[in-house]
Amino acid sequence: MRHALMLALSTTIACAPEKPPALSLTVGKLQLDYQALTDIVKPVDVNTDDPVYGRFKHYRAFPLLPILERAFGDRASLKDRQLIIHATDGYAVPVTGDILTEDGAYLAFRDREHAGWEPIGPRKQDPGPLYLVWTGSDHRDTTTYPWPYNVARIEVVESLAVLYPRTVPRDETARRGHEIFLHKCVKCHAVNRQGGSVGPELNVPMNVTEYWTVDQIKAYVKNPATFRYGAMPANPDLTDVDLNALAYYLLAMKAQKQE
Ligand code: HEC
Repeated sequence: MRHALMLALSTTIACAPEKPPALSLTVGKLQLDYQALTDIVKPVDVNTDDPVYGRFKHYRAFPLLPILERAFGDRASLKDRQLIIHATDGYAVPVTGDILTEDGAYLAFRDREHAGWEPIGPRKQDPGPLYLVWTGSDHRDTTTYPWPYNVARIEVVESLAVLYPRTVPRDETARRGHEIFLHKCVKCHAVNRQGGSVGPELNVPMNVTEYWTVDQIKAYVKNPATFRYGAMPANPDLTDVDLNALAYYLLAMKAQKQE
């Protein structure tokens, strides 16, 4: 009798309709609320070893790929595109299509262990209403796979130069280095106060070439751990030509300080 009651109770809980959370997401030209999202893809349970919280978490979430495909076209066409994820506070994370369309990306809208959300990050923020999470151990690398919270908008842009106009060099010959900078560095470093803040600003008030030699910069960028232990990742894939182009770009920006 007691068992039957418990069983009845647990099935009732399991089958209770999901209370639609108040959320709004803009993906390209689409304005999506919870209902519109469920029309594209059914929510699922996601269990993942979350590197931002630093432990296992259990979410209710939408698989991201079908949403991106609905807004922008199929995975193959998204591969070489540049996307930007915007948070409600204006924080913007650039990410390439090949990364964001990998299997294992989800937009979490509920923490299944917490009513509301558990505060996240150094500033103890509320990650809702949407938090980008990933499954699979490779995806715990937060330098390659973004885990932004308060996700409000995802867009495709022609180039990151649109997002960071003050990083664009006037000197045409510095364009190649700028491309590499946008591709490999801007998510962590700002130039003229545009870009990420994980690493130091590289142009204002002092340009990095005003206190490091070009040879030091090239060697450091290739393999930072030969200088000091820190959070700057190594770039073994950058060739000498790439490193020269990057150094040339940084030098060129010395003549173009802007705040
Ligand atoms: C994942 C984030 C991240 C990426 C990507 C990154 N950096 Fe860094 N970088 C850092 C951090 C953090 C530091 C500070 C490390 C320290 O102090 O030990 C740093 C330090 C530096 C410094 C030394 C600056 C100074 O004033 O001490 C240079 C130069 C630099 N990075 C250039 C680059 C370039 C060029 C790229 C792209 C090829 C790049 N970084 C990519 C995070 C990053």
